[in-house]
Amino acid sequence: MRSWLGFLILLLLLARAISLPAQKAEGPVAAIRSGEIWPDTDGNHINAHGGGVLYHEGKYYWFGEHKTAGRGGNSTLFGVGCYSSGDLYNWQNEGIVLKVVDDETSEIVKGCVIERPKVVYNAKTRKFVMWFHLELKGKGYEAARTGVAISDSPTGPFTYLTSYRPNAGDWPINVPVSLKDKKVDETKLEWWTKPWTKEVEEGLLLRRDLKEGQMARDMTVFVDDDGKAYHIHSAEENLTLHISELSDDYLSFTGKYSVLAPAGHNEAPAICKRNGKYYMITSGCTGWDPNAARSFVAASVMGPWKPLGNPCVGEGAELTFESQSTFLLPVQGKKDAYIFMADRWRPKNPIDGRYVWLPLEFEGEKPVLRWQDEWSLEVFDKKQKSEASLK
Ligand code: GAL
Repeated sequence: MRSWLGFLILLLLLARAISLPAQKAEGPVAAIRSGEIWPDTDGNHINAHGGGVLYHEGKYYWFGEHKTAGRGGNSTLFGVGCYSSGDLYNWQNEGIVLKVVDDETSEIVKGCVIERPKVVYNAKTRKFVMWFHLELKGKGYEAARTGVAISDSPTGPFTYLTSYRPNAGDWPINVPVSLKDKKVDETKLEWWTKPWTKEVEEGLLLRRDLKEGQMARDMTVFVDDDGKAYHIHSAEENLTLHISELSDDYLSFTGKYSVLAPAGHNEAPAICKRNGKYYMITSGCTGWDPNAARSFVAASVMGPWKPLGNPCVGEGAELTFESQSTFLLPVQGKKDAYIFMADRWRPKNPIDGRYVWLPLEFEGEKPVLRWQDEWSLEVFDKKQKSEASLK
């Protein structure tokens, strides 16, 4: 009996050791160490995956998926987490700011899937608006919706408003209108073959989803200098990115949108604006497994976007240093300073997912990412100094 009890306790301890990332309580840090445990100010590994960062009144707010331990840990059992920081190294846990609910009739019932939450501030309405990829409970990834929530404060509570299949009834501005009525005999088309992909480029899936609205899976939201906001999402079975204009209050879609890289299979969009140009970093489409990142540049957010290839260089470049993009974070008070934020997913134990944060460099108009074991924001000052001395 006793030995059984001992065995059971040993098993429990083992299970706990596997499910929890090693935690170490540390004092304040001034370095970014990608791929490592990143303790918050309480000493717990930060739990904000697929995240994005908002800067507001002197503070950064990092929003992300709050994952749990073990194989079901990717479905949303708590909600969207938020951390705040003044220096981008030390993050204080602000708790769950959008909570899933027990009500089975709600779209955000416990057990749904909330991914890649992004929060923006609307200066006109003075509201914080959160958008996220929403999958309905028990339906896998078939819903492909985007949800929106609102709050008076960055640290919540956020109130869930609704979800969309964007742009129902509307045709993208950069696809010939003549294709809207193209007739295709689909019985002769096999999915994922070349002729099928060609038809996707020519609007096959746009037409399929025209009435009910376009799919919205991996996503981000971007606010331009003129206050207009754009929702960028993987649509058309993750084959094509859609860039959709949001209404003035950021709570709905205007119906104006463009396509980026039709049938190019881009996910995990992250965007920034630098010297009047827009830069996008995306991934390919291999689920939780990493693949090679892609980059694009454009003079207008609606495109046309020019592909610039894999921004990563050096060892690990082919797998984006074992990560997948989630956000390009502009560092305040520094010129040309952007952080590439990415996730190293751990699907078997999602809570243990790691963060890859790297300084985004530019060589001419090409964004470049190099692995760094450890770095600090001073790299941006050094870069500026060396550029100044060259002038
Ligand atoms: C990835 C995507 C993640 C998540 C995952 C599910 O491709 O970027 O956000 O949706 O697939 O397998």
